[in-house]
Amino acid sequence: MLHSKGREQRLTFATPFVVESGAVLPQIDIQYTTYGRLNEAKDNVIWVAHALTGNAAVHEWWQDLFGPGRLLDPDRYFIVCANMLGSCYGTTGPNSVNPATGTEYGSDFPLITIRDMVQVHERLRDHLGIERVQLGIGGSMGGQQLIEWAVQRTGLFEKLVLLATNAEHSPWGIAFNEAQRMALQKDGSGLEAARAIAMLSYRNYAIFNRKQQEQEEKLDGFRASSYQQYQGEKLRQRFDPHSYRILTKAMDSHQVGRGRGGRAQALKRIQSDTLIIGIASDILFPVREQEALAREIPSAQLRIIESDYGHDGFLVETNLVQAAVRSFLAGTSKPDRLDVYREKRRLQSLRLPGTEVF
Ligand code: COA
Repeated sequence: MLHSKGREQRLTFATPFVVESGAVLPQIDIQYTTYGRLNEAKDNVIWVAHALTGNAAVHEWWQDLFGPGRLLDPDRYFIVCANMLGSCYGTTGPNSVNPATGTEYGSDFPLITIRDMVQVHERLRDHLGIERVQLGIGGSMGGQQLIEWAVQRTGLFEKLVLLATNAEHSPWGIAFNEAQRMALQKDGSGLEAARAIAMLSYRNYAIFNRKQQEQEEKLDGFRASSYQQYQGEKLRQRFDPHSYRILTKAMDSHQVGRGRGGRAQALKRIQSDTLIIGIASDILFPVREQEALAREIPSAQLRIIESDYGHDGFLVETNLVQAAVRSFLAGTSKPDRLDVYREKRRLQSLRLPGTEVF
């Protein structure tokens, strides 16, 4: 279908796809959106990788980065965004019909990993005839996929922008995901509760204080409560609980060093010029994880965005993100940023031993 903002398409591979856990999916559908045109040299590709509950319609969830004159400009670039394996927005996932049984996979959908998602996107890349991606960009779980992809196909991405992401999912992140899956098992409103837990990890004390502060004295009916309820309900209306479980499991399995001699060995393979962006107040993917990436990816720069928004900062702070990416693409970023940042951490830790910098 030709969409006013892009071309929404679905590609089907009717051949078995073996996932890392050993299970076989008899068929793979890939839902993707493209914007703009692939030029003759095929060198104007931006590949966007979406996060946990995102979809292939970048113009909807990153709308401030999207459009003429902006970073994701369809007049200049051929922009591709594909829905990830296991999601519920068109690519094969628990709400797809299993051709072998004629019914939806539901809870029978197999365990999948970030590596499986990358393999699916590889099929699409091959189908589109793309050999080189000028820029790969993605946050959170999208960033996890790009890291994995850049390690597997070292020459694919000329440049990478990885936001609020990590090289391996942390025990803390897995614990948040497990708490959400426990909520999912409970009752009919499990997905709402899971989202409410997730919101606590996406945001933090400061941003709740700033945006959900009461204006009047009261005993009940607090704004923070209705915010949590609203966010839960909103996700329930648009997302599939089985997908949520499967995708959070895939996130837990993210470990770029698995079978490769460890994280540092794996990241060393990445040949792309890389910009790592962290959000200072992110408690889910804390800045130390982006620091590690910047240290271990050979050609990497680190940018820390000072924002109260926590993990959600990569979606909300679009002006700051755009400015950072622009200067990176133009080659005008300050090369010493990582050192300055490290020095700041060192000084602060001297002042307050044993405490966090932010
Ligand atoms: N009671 C009820 N609803 C409330 C509310 C309250 N006290 N305060 C705000 N809301 C509503 C807003 O009206 C708004 O509604 P809408 O989405 O229908 O327009 C919604 O909650 C979001 O408001 P808010 O969170 O304050 O906006 P924001 O600009 O700070 O953040 C998002 C926008 C999209 C980033 C955020 O809402 C969100 O969904 N975060 C999760 C996204 C995500 O998945 N992040 C992680 C990716 S791994």
